[in-house]
Amino acid sequence: MQSAVSVKDLKIAYGDHTVIEKMSIDIAPREFLVLLGPSGCGKSTLLNAIAGLQDITSGEVWISGKNVSWEEPKDRGIGMVFQSYALYPRMSVRKNLSFGLRVARLSKAEIEARVARTAALLQLDKLLDRRPAELSGGQRQRVAIGRALVREVDVFLFDEPLSNLDAKLRNELRVEIKKLHQRLGNTMIYVTHDQVEALTLADRIAIMRDGVIQQLASPAEIYRRPANLFVAGFIGAPAMNFIEGRIERGDGAPIFLGNGLTIDLSGYSFGAAAAEGPATLGFRPEHLVLDGAASGLPIIPGRVAVVEPMGSDAVVWFDWADQSLSLRLMGDVTLEPGDTMAPGLDIAKASLFGADGSRL
Ligand SMILES: Nc1ncnc2c1ncn2[C@@H]1O[C@H](COP(=O)(O)OP(=O)(O)O)[C@@H](O)[C@H]1O
Ligand SMILES: [Mg+2]
Repeated sequence: MQSAVSVKDLKIAYGDHTVIEKMSIDIAPREFLVLLGPSGCGKSTLLNAIAGLQDITSGEVWISGKNVSWEEPKDRGIGMVFQSYALYPRMSVRKNLSFGLRVARLSKAEIEARVARTAALLQLDKLLDRRPAELSGGQRQRVAIGRALVREVDVFLFDEPLSNLDAKLRNELRVEIKKLHQRLGNTMIYVTHDQVEALTLADRIAIMRDGVIQQLASPAEIYRRPANLFVAGFIGAPAMNFIEGRIERGDGAPIFLGNGLTIDLSGYSFGAAAAEGPATLGFRPEHLVLDGAASGLPIIPGRVAVVEPMGSDAVVWFDWADQSLSLRLMGDVTLEPGDTMAPGLDIAKASLFGADGSRL
C-alpha cells in the first residue's frame, strides 16, 4: 500500500545544531499519527517540513506518492491547524472559512458548498455571520480547524491545536477531533506534548526526543512495552516506578536484585536472552497488588506516606528503602499515612531495562 506521507532520511539543521536526525517514517492512508515529545524535541520542525514551511537540510518528503520536497505548501495537498489560530478579526466566520478558497479562485458555488459542509461538520452553521470576537475560545478553535477542512485534502496536520484552551474545552474538542477523523477517514498527523491526547487519539504514536524517534507503536504497545527508559518515564501518570539493581542468573530462572529485594524473573518475557548485569526494574502503579502475600507475588514492603484520591481510583505513595513508590487502588481506600503495607509486584506486566536504557 502506498503511504499517505513518507519522510525519508530527513535531516534538519541550523548551522551545526541538528534538530532532526536522519529520520524516516511512513504514515498510512487514514492513519492518525501523533508526534509526542517534550518541548523543543523537534515536533513542530518535523511537521513544518512536511507542510513545506521549513527548509530541509537533506532527505525527502513524499505525500500521496509524490516527492513534494521542493513544492510550495499550497501545492502539497495538506491542510494545517496551528496552536495559535490567527483568525481574521474583521471577517465573519463564513469569510474566515472561505478566505483560502477565494484566494485559490474556486467557483462561488463550490466555495459555498464547501463552507456549508465544513460548518455542518463542526457545528458552526449558526455562527457563520459572527466575527471571531463574538465567539468562545472553543468556537474560534473550531473555525481554525474548519479553515483547514474546507480545503478537502487527504492529509491534515495539527500542531498542538488544543494547548491554548482550558482543560474542559480541551477534553471536549479532543473527542470532537477523534469523531471528525472517524467520519472523514483522512490522514492526520497531530503534534502534542500531552500524553493524554496522544494515548486517546492516536492509531500510532511516534515518541521523539532530541530529534530522534524513540518508539513508533500503538498507544497500548507504548504503554505496556516501552522501548526504553525515556519512553517508560514519559508515558503514564503517575510516572512508572523505577528500581535500580542487577540481573543475576543462578541455576534456574534469572533474578533481579535491588536494594535488598530479590525478584524471580521467570514470569517476565525477555525480548532478548536475559543477560546478567546492571538493570532497572520499571513497574506502573497499577502493577502492584495491595495484598502481596495473598496473591503469591514478590513483595515490596513499605509504609504509606500519602494517599491521593482521584475519584474512581486512588494513588497510594509509600516509602520503600530510600524511595517513594506509587500504587494504584480502585475504589475506597482505608489506608492511612504510617500504615505498613506489603504489596506484590506482577512481574509479567513490569519492564526491565539494561544499562544503556533499552528494554530487555
Ligand atoms: N530558527 C531556528 N534557529 C535555530 N534553532 C531553532 C530554530 N527554530 C527552532 N529551533 C530549535 O529547534 C529545536 C526544535 O524546535 P521545535 O521543533 O519548535 O520543537 P517542539 O515543537 O518539539 O517544541 C529547538 O531546540 C529549537 O530551539
Ligand atoms: Mg512545537
